[in-house]
Amino acid sequence: MKIAAYEVRPDELPVIEGMCKELGIEVECTSKNLDMTTVGMAKGADGITTLGQSTYSDEVLDELKSYGVQVLAARCVGYNHMNENYARKLGFKLTHGSYLPDGVADYTIMSILICLRKFKKALKNTDDNDFTLKGKQGRELRSLTVGVMGTGKIGRAVIKRLSGFGCRIIANDIFESDEVKQYAEYVDLDTLYAESDIITVHTPLLPDTVGIINKEAISKMKDGVILIGNARGELFDLEAIIEGMESEKIGSMFMDAFPGETGIIHEVHDTDIVKTEGMPWFRLKYLKSFVNFVQTPHMAFFTEEAAKQMAESGVEGIYECITKGSSRHEIPKAN
Ligand code: COI
Repeated sequence: MKIAAYEVRPDELPVIEGMCKELGIEVECTSKNLDMTTVGMAKGADGITTLGQSTYSDEVLDELKSYGVQVLAARCVGYNHMNENYARKLGFKLTHGSYLPDGVADYTIMSILICLRKFKKALKNTDDNDFTLKGKQGRELRSLTVGVMGTGKIGRAVIKRLSGFGCRIIANDIFESDEVKQYAEYVDLDTLYAESDIITVHTPLLPDTVGIINKEAISKMKDGVILIGNARGELFDLEAIIEGMESEKIGSMFMDAFPGETGIIHEVHDTDIVKTEGMPWFRLKYLKSFVNFVQTPHMAFFTEEAAKQMAESGVEGIYECITKGSSRHEIPKAN
């Protein structure tokens, strides 16, 4: 068996190579994204594995198909970038990454506290020897309502953690979980918007969730609402966020994932983002100038524990599909 592994970070390399050696798999790794310039590396491979920045265009998929590749294995949980419909049409098996939700859930609690305790301002001011308390008064979680959108693995782990803070927790998902009901009350989206002081979005990115946090949604929220976006940037309508920040409807926002980040995130972009007006990230430059807007480089997942599990799940996805015809990491077919 042969695997072509793309977007391999230095921390993933020993995990992928070690696992392939153990399983007797030939593997070729590159730090580059999969695209038309790099697809040739997959010649002779049974499966390819990538993270979230690669290009799964029709052209790339046609090429992979012509090489006899059978499995496309993302090492990240999100698979919105995988051109699923066309990939399925060509008969590929699709798997996605699997890792415990704890790292992202811990990070989300941190994001909430950073916003709640005006941490960006505190760090900036203290760096400049401004030791005043001006603009730094926070709120306590126990007196607030937190709305959790999406109660999949990550949403559930966030809710469990939040339950230790004594806040009221409300949640929304099309599938209700009994586990969640021990700690939170399921409400409809309008109620969640109207009653939450903090809203954290863990909804998967699907065609009908793109831009779910738009002008209309924001207008239904409490004045000064805190928004946390640690799942996918495209869940947020960027112009609506900008308007909400300008009008102070949004009291504070933390974004680990940004719309349009594919091909940009986890790379150095010293000047292009700052000078290229059309780039969605050009708007980020403006947003980042708000002292109550915090951005991080899509790193909520990035713990030693999760990174190892992700790398392993990429290899497992291919190995299991080829040897057993199916994998525990297979992406379920949408109805
Ligand atoms: C995911 O696993 O879906 C992530 O968001 C992490 C990815 C950017 C590496």
